[in-house]
Amino acid sequence: MRTVYVNGEFVLEKDAKVSIFDRAFLFADAVYEVTSVLNGKLVDFDNHMKRLNRSMKELNFGPKIKEKEFLAFHRKLVDINKIEEGIVYLQVSRGIAERDFAFPPSDTQLTITAFTQTKKLIDNDVAKKGIKIITIDDLRWKRCDIKTIQLLYPSIAKSEAMKQGVDDAWMTQNGYIMEGTSNNAWIIKGKNIYTREADNLILNGITRQAVAQVAEQLKYKVIHKQFTVQEAENADEAFITSATAFVTGVIQINDRKMSKGKPGIFTHSLREAYIQQALATLK
Ligand code: PDD
Repeated sequence: MRTVYVNGEFVLEKDAKVSIFDRAFLFADAVYEVTSVLNGKLVDFDNHMKRLNRSMKELNFGPKIKEKEFLAFHRKLVDINKIEEGIVYLQVSRGIAERDFAFPPSDTQLTITAFTQTKKLIDNDVAKKGIKIITIDDLRWKRCDIKTIQLLYPSIAKSEAMKQGVDDAWMTQNGYIMEGTSNNAWIIKGKNIYTREADNLILNGITRQAVAQVAEQLKYKVIHKQFTVQEAENADEAFITSATAFVTGVIQINDRKMSKGKPGIFTHSLREAYIQQALATLK
């Protein structure tokens, strides 16, 4: 059985408890991060903490987190649970307060929880085969740049995709692709790689930022610009990025088969280069 982290304590998952009055439970008033683990170490940890601090600041969660402390309990969770490859899920909620729409006093103690999952991230069957996606109307709120646990619409969209026999959905607004349900969306046309600019309508993925750098090292031109569903369907290749997918090829968008129904060659080389870079910067 896993050991999980709850407010400074390491406890068996069956013994972990959080109040039903926690703001995460009542209002989805919490932010989170998913950090991948390779060779028992954390990938891009500092950038995940930077984004966590930003999410917390945007929501007035009080003082910045103590990064050293967070690093220590992430490492300890990975060690206790003997995670060689997988993820650490971290959640920070505004804390426990009587149910009220207004925020509780700013000195309310945050609820900090974390758990691990074992996952094959590198030698991964989904990445080998690639994924099929549909496009679906994006009905989320207008602060998708904050990584909140308010994930009901992405969950609806992913379930709809699976109901239609595919793997995931890319969410659209006015004919433009925004992002995947839990990943960023990319297309390749010649030597140009397109991913939407990061504003308030999408999450600025940590993997996305690392992959953009890797792509430039591979002499691609990375263009941060939105693209339409039609442009995506007519691209040479398409792929997604996230802490769990790394770089995973998209082999079908709606009814359109991409790169002959297999992850594209450039997608493959980007994935390999990203993994090498991630392995070289573990913490
Ligand atoms: N999701 N966009 C959305 C909406 C996401 O939920 C995620 C990550 C990303 C990619 O971000 P990153 O590269 O930092 O993982 C983009 C995580 C993996 C999740 O919810 O499980």
